Amino acid sequence: MKIIPGISSQVLATRIAAELGGEACLCEFKKFPDGELYTRVVDGIKDEEVIIVQSLMADTGLISLLQLIDAVEEAHKTSVVIPYLGYARQDKRFKPGEAISSRAIARGISFAGIVDKIYVVNVHNRAVLEYFDVEAKNLDAAPLIGDYIAKKGIVQPVIIGPDEGARELAKAVAAPHGYAYDVLEKKRISGDEVVIKPKELSVDGKNVVIVDDIISTGGTIAEVAAMIKAREANEIYVACIHGLFVQNAPLRIRNAGVEEIIATDTIESVFSTISVAKMIAEELKR
Ligand code: R5P
Repeated sequence: MKIIPGISSQVLATRIAAELGGEACLCEFKKFPDGELYTRVVDGIKDEEVIIVQSLMADTGLISLLQLIDAVEEAHKTSVVIPYLGYARQDKRFKPGEAISSRAIARGISFAGIVDKIYVVNVHNRAVLEYFDVEAKNLDAAPLIGDYIAKKGIVQPVIIGPDEGARELAKAVAAPHGYAYDVLEKKRISGDEVVIKPKELSVDGKNVVIVDDIISTGGTIAEVAAMIKAREANEIYVACIHGLFVQNAPLRIRNAGVEEIIATDTIESVFSTISVAKMIAEELKR
């Protein structure tokens, strides 16, 4: 098995290769003066099994992935690990004439029949996996967040998801350790008054970990953290699978009274304190 590290997942690919007892292949990436990308797998690939690891958080990542798939066309078997599958939030047509972006991306990746299997980590909506022409499997990194919280020794944390869509994630983080979990609900008190609060649990005096699949601008999490703080929570932590952290997201979140921002390395940043490498390597061994 040869691991091909994509331009956006160099550290994670190297970790996966180490977990599998090997090394990641050397690749060259550069930009031409007009902005076009150049991609080369320096060790030529012929009749081998290859695994490309590449997150799609910016358009450059997608172009580079398409180039890598083309570069390994002579491989015997090609799997693609997309730790963060970008564009998955545009999973349907919300307005007439819109592109179903996740479908366009999936079609592009499945082009020319080179790819045999896809792996993604906590895709925003599992339904988009149906857009790939080949088998696409979702891996769940939520239990790794639960393990991190336990290892950190946060006392009796309450796991809170920002909305109903985050219930499954909150449960997957909390359940293996027996932590309490809940999601927020918006309650209209009067014509112009809306209260956002946990559906069932009180956070008063509790340590709270707010979890979400993606943190992008940090707007959602910062609002939730400020609300939880106002409800007299003790320590507040924030954890996500995919930390995009665009614009001033870290600052907004910290300013809302958060002790620590925790993310995985599906997108590599200073907040990537949890690695999904072992989980992916174990799946690939299977
Ligand atoms: C939305 O459906 C996602 O689960 C996240 O809640 C959202 O992407 C977070 O975005 P932001 O950090 O910009 O509020």
